[in-house]
This record gives sequence, C-alpha cells and structure tokens, in this order.
Amino acid sequence: MAILPIIVAPDPRLKVVSRPVDKVDAAVARLMDDMLETMYDAPGIGLAAPQVGVPTCVIVVDIARKDKGEAPKPLKMANPQLVATSEELKSWDEGCLSLPEHYADVIRPSRAAVRYLDENNKRREIEADGVLAVCLQHEMDHLDGILFVDHVTALKRNMILRKLRKAKKLGMLAAE
Ligand code: NI
Repeated sequence: MAILPIIVAPDPRLKVVSRPVDKVDAAVARLMDDMLETMYDAPGIGLAAPQVGVPTCVIVVDIARKDKGEAPKPLKMANPQLVATSEELKSWDEGCLSLPEHYADVIRPSRAAVRYLDENNKRREIEADGVLAVCLQHEMDHLDGILFVDHVTALKRNMILRKLRKAKKLGMLAAE
C-alpha cells in the first residue's frame, strides 16, 4: 500500500467528472487500499479517487471513531450511485481533505441508499443515515467534480478558495 498526495483546491483536477470502472480488478482494488491508507494517514473519514488525481469512480469511507476505540469499518466502493434519498434534510458542518482546515454547513438529504461494487466486484447496496449518509453524498459529489463549497454561498466559497490559494502560494500546504 502507498500514501498518495492529496490535491488541494482550487485545482482543475477536482472539477472533472470521473469515469466509472468496468470492473473491480486487482488494479482498482489496489487503488482502494492506497486511498484508504492515505485517508487514515490524513486523517479523514472519506476520500474520492479524483482527490488523488485518478478520475475514476472510486471512493473509500470509514466513519469509525478510532479515537474512541471503535474498530475500523472501511467501505471500499466503485461506481457508487444514489438509489434513494430521504425528503428530510439535515445540515452538517462539512470538511474535506482537499480544503484543509475549512468547514461550512451543507444541507443534504438526511438518509441515502447507495448501490455500488465492493472490492470483490460484488454488487451491494447500503442504507445510510447520520454522518455516513453525509459522507457518502460528499464523496459521490467529488466524482461529479463537486466540492462541498459548491453547496454554499458564492461569498463563503470564494473566501475559502482565496485563503487556500494564498496558503498554497506561500507553501503552507503540501499541494501538488
Ligand atoms: Ni471531500
């Protein structure tokens, strides 16, 4: 496994629409493992392939609270698709490894059902609520080139992106 560099916004590679995988083969499974290791190292609870420069429909998620002694619960997903969302909405203070140290309230459906291929190319479906529902929708957004700041006001978005651009210029972030 390997720790991959995470792309920091603003960056055109975070705005591309990712390609679905044909099947989860050894190369895709290895990408999933590398992404998971990269996410744990960051640390974060979700990561999408375009964040490590691979425009492919792969995400990894683990919402287990390791700081509270919970065992890891990694989810490795290819071609994730929303099959249903609740009408009920919920606001969550979201962050992103590609927008380090910035957070904003984003409103999304509070529950979501997601269909995907697992690391063995097996078709699966999960129903999520709470932080998992938020995280899955956030990571799936990345596959469409959408960042959490695209869900907030232009004022707030531009403020965050301006600060990140400045931090990158000053070499304060490990940007690629
Ligand atoms: Ni993100």
